[in-house]
Amino acid sequence: MTSTHQPEPPAARLSSGTIHRHVVWGAAITALGGLLFGYDTGVISGALLFIGKDFHGLTSFDKELLTSILLIGALIGALAAGRIADRVGRRPTVLGTAALFVAGVMLAAFSPSYGILVGARVVIGLAVGSASMVVPLYIGEVAPPRIRGALVSFNQLAITSGILASYLVDYGLASTRNWRLMFGLAAIPAILMFAGMLFQHESPHWLIAQGREDEARKVLHRVRDEGDIDAEIAGVRELSARQSSFREVLNPTVRHVMIIGVALAVFQQITGINTIIYYAPTLLASAGLGNSAALLANVVNGAVNVLMTIVAIRLLDRTGRRPLLLGGTTGMAAGMIVVALTFLIGGSHLHGGAAYIAIAGLLIYTGSFAIGLGPVFWLLISEIYPVKIRGQAMSVATMANWGANFVVTISFLTLLSAIGNAGTFFLFAGLSIVALAYFQRQVPETKNRSLEDIERDLDLPSGAMSDAPA
Ligand code: BGC
Repeated sequence: MTSTHQPEPPAARLSSGTIHRHVVWGAAITALGGLLFGYDTGVISGALLFIGKDFHGLTSFDKELLTSILLIGALIGALAAGRIADRVGRRPTVLGTAALFVAGVMLAAFSPSYGILVGARVVIGLAVGSASMVVPLYIGEVAPPRIRGALVSFNQLAITSGILASYLVDYGLASTRNWRLMFGLAAIPAILMFAGMLFQHESPHWLIAQGREDEARKVLHRVRDEGDIDAEIAGVRELSARQSSFREVLNPTVRHVMIIGVALAVFQQITGINTIIYYAPTLLASAGLGNSAALLANVVNGAVNVLMTIVAIRLLDRTGRRPLLLGGTTGMAAGMIVVALTFLIGGSHLHGGAAYIAIAGLLIYTGSFAIGLGPVFWLLISEIYPVKIRGQAMSVATMANWGANFVVTISFLTLLSAIGNAGTFFLFAGLSIVALAYFQRQVPETKNRSLEDIERDLDLPSGAMSDAPA
C-alpha cells in the first residue's frame, strides 16, 4: 500500500493474516448460496419418493414438473439478479437472495397442497438462479487476483457439498418418510447466509463503478494486502467510464466474450452432468443394480464430485484455468466412452463386473467434470466480462446454463428410450469432444491477472486473449 494520496487512511493498517481472514470469511458466507443451490437441486430426488403420501394421486408428470419447475425459476432468477446486482449492488442482491431462500424452503416444508409446493419450488428456483450468478460475481470482485480462482470456486465446492448433503439427508430421513424436513433443513444455511451477509461489505468494484470511491477504498483496505489500491481504483474507474450500457453487448469485442460465456454454459450442461447428478440411481437400478447399491454408488459419485472440486481449488491458481478445463473435458469424454462401451457390450442389463465398470466410468466422468468444466465455467464468467455490465453479462451466461440444464433434464429419459443407453452416452462423449475442441481454440487463460487487465485485453482482436501466457 504505497499510494500517495489516500484521503482517509484506515485507523490501523491490517495485518495480512487479518486481511486473508476477511476475504476467506466473506467468500465462505456468500458461498452458502452455492450450498443451497446444490442442496435444493439435489434434495428432490429423495423427497419425490414420499410426497405422494400427503398429496394423493400424483402422476409422473406432476413429479417431473415439481423437479424441473425449479430450473425455470432459476432461469428467471438469474435474469433478474444480474440487473438488480448492477443497479442496487451485489450485497443487497445477496441479502434478497437469502431471504427468498428462507421464504421458499419454509413454504415448501409447510405446503398444504401440491399446487403450493409447486409455487414454493418456483420461489426456491428464483433464489437458486440468483445465487448462481451473484455468488461468483461478488466473490470474484472482492478476491485478490492471486487467490481469485480458489475463492470463486468455493462456490462450486459449496454446490457439490450441497448435492452430497442432500443425498445424505434423503438417505438418512428415508425411514421417517419426512419429505417436509428434507426441504425445510435448507432454512438453516439460508438464515446463516442472510445473517452473515449483514456483516459483509459491498463489492469495491461495484462501488467504484457508481463513483463511490471513498467507500470502495475503505473496503479495499480490508481485503487487499498487496499492490496499489489506488491503481485498482483508477483501473476500474477508467474501465467503467468506457461503456455506458448493456447495449455494449453489440460491440464486437464484448460480443466475443459473451459467446465464450454462453458456449461454456451450454457445454457444461449438454455434456450430461445433471443426467448423472439427478438420475444416476434410477439409471443404475434399471441397469440391474439393487436399490441400495444404486444409492450407495450415488453417494460415492457425490463424494468424488466434492473431492475433485477440492483438488481443482488447490490447482486453479497454480496451473491455471485452461489446463484443468482441457484435461477435465478429456476425462469426461473418456469416462462417457467407458460407460457407453459397457452398455454396448453388456446390453442394457449389466451383470456382475460390467456394472462396476460402468460405475467406474461414471466416477471418471464426474471427477473430470469436477476438476475442470464444473468450477471453471463459473469462475471464467466472473472474470471475462467488463465491470460495467458484469452482472448482466453473467446473467446471460447463467440463464443459458439453466436453460440448457432444463432441456437436457427434461429430455434425458426420452433420449434413453429413443437411442438407448449406449447411444446416449456416446452422444455425451461426442459432445465433450466438440466442447474440448472449442475450449482449446477460444477459452482465455485468466490466472493471476487482475480483472482490469483481463478487461483491457478485450480490446485485442478476437481470439487474441487465448494466446495470453498461462
Ligand atoms: C453445474 C450444475 C451441476 C453441478 C454438479 C455445477 O457447476 O452448474 O448444473 O449440478 O455443477 O456438481
